[in-house]
Amino acid sequence: MPGLIPERFIDELLARVDIVDVVQQRVPLKRAGREWTACCPFHDERTPSFTVSPGKQFYHCFGCGAHGSAIKFLMEYDRLEFPDAVEELAQTVGLNVPHEGGPARPREDRTDLYALLDAAAQFYQEQLPNSEAARAYCKRRGLGEDVIERFRIGWAPGGWDAVKRALGTGDARLKMLEQAGMLSTGEGGKRYDRFRERLMFPILDRRGRVIAFGGRVLEGDGPKYLNSPETPLFHKGRELFALWQVRQANSKLERLIVVEGYMDVVSLHQAGVPQAVATLGTATTGEHAELLFRTAPDVYFCFDGDRAGRSAAWRALESVLPRMRDGRQAFFLFLPEGEDPDTLVRKEGKVGFEARLKQATPLSEYFYGYLSHDVKVATLDGRARLAEYAKPLLAKLPDGAFRDLMYAELEKRTGVPMVAAMTPAGRAAALPNAPRRTLVRSAIAMLLAEPALAELAGRPYAFAALDKPGVPLLIELLDVAGTRPGIKTALLLEHFSAREEAAALQKLATTEFPGEPEALRAEFLDALRKLAEQTTQQRLDALIRKQSEGALDEAEKNELRGLLARKAQPASPM
Ligand code: UTP
Ligand code: MN
Repeated sequence: MPGLIPERFIDELLARVDIVDVVQQRVPLKRAGREWTACCPFHDERTPSFTVSPGKQFYHCFGCGAHGSAIKFLMEYDRLEFPDAVEELAQTVGLNVPHEGGPARPREDRTDLYALLDAAAQFYQEQLPNSEAARAYCKRRGLGEDVIERFRIGWAPGGWDAVKRALGTGDARLKMLEQAGMLSTGEGGKRYDRFRERLMFPILDRRGRVIAFGGRVLEGDGPKYLNSPETPLFHKGRELFALWQVRQANSKLERLIVVEGYMDVVSLHQAGVPQAVATLGTATTGEHAELLFRTAPDVYFCFDGDRAGRSAAWRALESVLPRMRDGRQAFFLFLPEGEDPDTLVRKEGKVGFEARLKQATPLSEYFYGYLSHDVKVATLDGRARLAEYAKPLLAKLPDGAFRDLMYAELEKRTGVPMVAAMTPAGRAAALPNAPRRTLVRSAIAMLLAEPALAELAGRPYAFAALDKPGVPLLIELLDVAGTRPGIKTALLLEHFSAREEAAALQKLATTEFPGEPEALRAEFLDALRKLAEQTTQQRLDALIRKQSEGALDEAEKNELRGLLARKAQPASPM
């Protein structure tokens, strides 16, 4: 593994690049006052709700909620992993990315691993024509030259050391083969080829580089499919088989179809449905779901009709729920018993398969159908139980119209009012007097809008002991901003990007404070003073309560006297 990229460097990088340039190179922006706007590149829209703020150095879409720094934009738009996005940005401003605690030249090492795996794929491809059995098998399964080429399907010959002999010349190379997951270790530590007598499917990453393999036995012993183990390059919970081929075959992607197997994918592509991808023998993870929706707005999950298929479908649903932002749609397609997409598309052709996709069940319908399955909705108890099942799941949905509609549907089905559970926007529409923002949240919003305000807070913070939600977060924000003069909003947010509170912070960061900087300073100081007052009051209440129980010690008595005396005087500036 390469070393970690130090946080200092990320700070420096984000301070050097201008997000407007970064976005502008990919999405044409129009000036609108202090900001820039465009139609959002992350969801379909006609009128622009995507904004880029040079002051805050972040982008934000008021339509779909997409949000982040220049690094996040590259990750989302160019679909890069974090280290690659950092690398890319660093190059544009002529910085070298340092790595802490890793090997001295980690990227070169990786490059070699990629080259090695590519050579392995090449080797397998060259072996395919040499094997009578493998060619016959491909023919039997209807694999044409074209898909064999496109998917780089190959053949791992028998014996124990074909790959080792072809690629493992020298100790360093052997070590790399091992690292790449191409070898197994036998008794006595002897190393031999992991894949033997198998039809080989290379697994490519988002940039088309070989990172792993899946291999199918023609018949006979061992597991039907053998996959590469987890390696520095391959994390199966993150990768989708054929995503590369899908991107190559479609200039604009409206949908993805998620199936279970290698053969299902290859068959669908061959039949003229080149939007099929597969998870790699695992359940659909949250990371998969995010990747799927970043690639296309509509995702069809296609499962076998058996028990295993049904439970896999529900797990996929659970993974997508938190990612169902507006503009995204998920559908579920259950196949007849005994069929898989491969057998079906061979029987029914592209037209038949497309017809089934048209009939696929939308997420909302599948959701309520599944939960109502063993509930008697005709009875009051049954409806209460349905509400009970649904609520914690619906709570995972992100804010938006879809979430509100799902709650409305639950209300319709159960008669249980759901207003309290709706989004702030939905609630505001439903209730005329929506609660106002708390003092702590206001202070955080102001600080995010103008991190330099942190300098105004005297340390130690007078409100540090205040027992209210958000206070520890406010303190952390003040600490980060206070120790980094000149820090911009995006960078401040970046520091909290891995945290549970990240989404809430991002939302708060979009608050606009029009008017003069002085007015904002005054408002911020006022909020801090009120927080300090609340802290004093809270302490006072606690001491008075304790006094009424006769439990005050000497120091506390003094403290109480002091507080009461201070309260009797007019408020002094902090
Ligand atoms: P299936 O058993 O449904 O196989 O496994 P399949 O895709 O229909 O394969 P064919 O048509 O018999 O060739 C579905 C997927 O589960 C994973 C593989 O990713 C496979 O494509 N799997 C299955 C394994 O990883 N190991 C196994 O032993 C079996
Ligand atoms: Mn199959």
